Amino acid sequence: MGICYFEKEKVFKLDTGASSYLIGIVDEEGFLGHIYYGRKMQDHDVAYLMRTEEAPFVPSTNARDRLSFLDSFPMEYPTHGLGDFREDAISVKTVGGHVALQLNYVSHEIYAGKKALKDLPATFGNEKECTTLEILCEDKILGLQVILSYSAFEDVDAITRSVRVVNHAADPVYLTKVMSTCVDMDNRDFDLITLHGSWARERHINRRPLSLGFQGVSSLRGESSHQEHPFMALVSHNADQDMGEAYGFSFVYSGNFLAETSMSQFDTVRAMVGINPEDFCWKLEQGEEFQAPEVIMVYSAQGIGNMSRNFHDLFRNHLIRGEYKDKKRPILINNWEATYFDFNTEKLIAIAKQASELGIEMLVMDDGWFGHRNDDNSSLGDWFVNEAKLPGGLKYLVDEVNNLGMKFGIWFEPEMISPDSELYKAHPDWAIAIPGRTAGLCRNQYVLDLSRQEIVDYVYGRLSEILHSSNIEYVKWDMNRQLADMGSIGLPADRQGELFHRYVLGVYQLQERLIAEFPHLLLENCSGGGARFDPGMLYYSPQIWCSDDTDAIERLEIQEGTALIYPLSSMGAHVSDCPNHTVGRVTPFETRGYVALAGTFGYELDVTKIPEEDRKQIPEQVQMYHKYNDLVRSGDYYRIASYSKNHKYDCYMVVSKDRSEALVTFIQVMMRPNYHSRNIRLKGLDPNRTYRIEGEERTYSGEALMYAGIQVQNPWGDFRGKLIHIVEA
Ligand code: GLA
Repeated sequence: MGICYFEKEKVFKLDTGASSYLIGIVDEEGFLGHIYYGRKMQDHDVAYLMRTEEAPFVPSTNARDRLSFLDSFPMEYPTHGLGDFREDAISVKTVGGHVALQLNYVSHEIYAGKKALKDLPATFGNEKECTTLEILCEDKILGLQVILSYSAFEDVDAITRSVRVVNHAADPVYLTKVMSTCVDMDNRDFDLITLHGSWARERHINRRPLSLGFQGVSSLRGESSHQEHPFMALVSHNADQDMGEAYGFSFVYSGNFLAETSMSQFDTVRAMVGINPEDFCWKLEQGEEFQAPEVIMVYSAQGIGNMSRNFHDLFRNHLIRGEYKDKKRPILINNWEATYFDFNTEKLIAIAKQASELGIEMLVMDDGWFGHRNDDNSSLGDWFVNEAKLPGGLKYLVDEVNNLGMKFGIWFEPEMISPDSELYKAHPDWAIAIPGRTAGLCRNQYVLDLSRQEIVDYVYGRLSEILHSSNIEYVKWDMNRQLADMGSIGLPADRQGELFHRYVLGVYQLQERLIAEFPHLLLENCSGGGARFDPGMLYYSPQIWCSDDTDAIERLEIQEGTALIYPLSSMGAHVSDCPNHTVGRVTPFETRGYVALAGTFGYELDVTKIPEEDRKQIPEQVQMYHKYNDLVRSGDYYRIASYSKNHKYDCYMVVSKDRSEALVTFIQVMMRPNYHSRNIRLKGLDPNRTYRIEGEERTYSGEALMYAGIQVQNPWGDFRGKLIHIVEA
């Protein structure tokens, strides 16, 4: 059992394969104290760390300094308003206008397995894979119960946490903050790693020393966002890919978030992740409950690379669901960068015909097939086929594509409504807006109020009807603006603060219904590129479009940041045409293929128009994908060198779980004159086994490949890449 309760010491101990987490029940009132999180320990060895024996002591022995206790003791789930002046994890407002609460231990339950979270995405595991602890705490004065849930995974060094709040009092209470995790630690000279970006340059890694006061990332955009990411890691100053400590926190949520650290007057660090409390206020009537989303915590004593691999395994085995979870995805060709809005049945069939001859397996029709949408100014919400563009309708097109031996996929942006649409004419009040104030447009569109069930049902009805109308096997679900002007006519004044979260719940409900009704559908999420690439969306779709930036060189940094947490199997990546539509750069077609191979792999170009020498390479790239995708999808990812740091070249590898095979990708960004080769030291192989590099006769020991490395001859020219396939001899 991964979780034990030591009755005498009143200590809970959670163990994963290589980490331990300890919580103690403290003093007569039953405060919950945090004792330890880190490298795995013998049973209750470190319970002595509970700071009850040092000043200011516990309230039962030193009541005169109660506030000092609350303000310095390492708390498991700190509350607002009674004297812990550090950042709190939960705060409320009562009908009397008061904001304080105190949570004390009441009871607990430990069981094998893990329960699903109501209406929310979350990790899953069976009775052999994980153990769960639920601690029930209560504020007796308010009649408020808080259930802190922890699940310890056996095969991955991950502990998940979530929080449920239940109001048992006759009066309603307003929750103004409910964080999903809080960890108090002593400062260990940590660095903070977070992910930052913008449209077309998502998830660039940022690392800085942790310092006094607040640091962190957040979103108030209604989605996890291009700009900041629902993730942070605290790593020891000396941590690199292979050594040092790393604590990763990833939020399984797709809306407003806050991931924050604060360092106190005593140099203690409080790390917290949850729904952003700004613009959040949730009313709980008697008997109602609020479920806060899940946070995944990964601890690694073997560097940042090991943290990444733990996240990858957790996401692949315990979060991603459905038919394509462990399956190769069809190689698709998407018409967005090929035609933008300027397409019709004939053009699409021409692309499909040529693509099918080259070995591409699915045509995806992107934006512009519905209403009268010929640019991005109209028709969102009018999910009816534009027969002027697609004569014979969708069925004809899909059948023709199927007759070519290809699957068919389609683009939707279900959460949106254009002012120029039939839907808006009929239901102007379906858009999120504040009465009396003209709502701001973004890409000339508004956001549908998905907190209202009738709107969710309508949208679902349209999606479902289109998907039933022909043999559609893939959906790209897009979301192209941020949320503002937050107002819903479906909510009373004192529930307007629920809108952001209710919107996210509406999105989750839609996607859950979709994959339940169409279990064979491959769903790919997208949001103006990668603005909603988060674990919440991964629960519904095994892959997410990484970025609208398809340039192979820009992608190196985007994919490096994404792979810090997410498995390569989840990263939507395509080969596109050059000069690249976002940056104007020209890179070899071959290199574009190598970079896209580290993701789902597909094409986003007009295959009938690209240069013949590029087109000729497609069948080889298709073969390359089929040869390596099982390894890329399921293997262990190791970063060897990072172009974002060295500004010269990028190198990473994937090693099969049984360590019999590996694929190294080497991309030289800028050619360096009079420089002959680069030494690359491989990782993750078995030092005692013998390997061969495909295409060579010579054999190497695993230890030679890892400790001495190999020489990669400098490719000729800029933006050149190379794959090195290593197999057990
Ligand atoms: C977003 C997506 C693109 C494309 C367009 C269509 O920007 O990220 O891939 O689908 O919308 O409008």
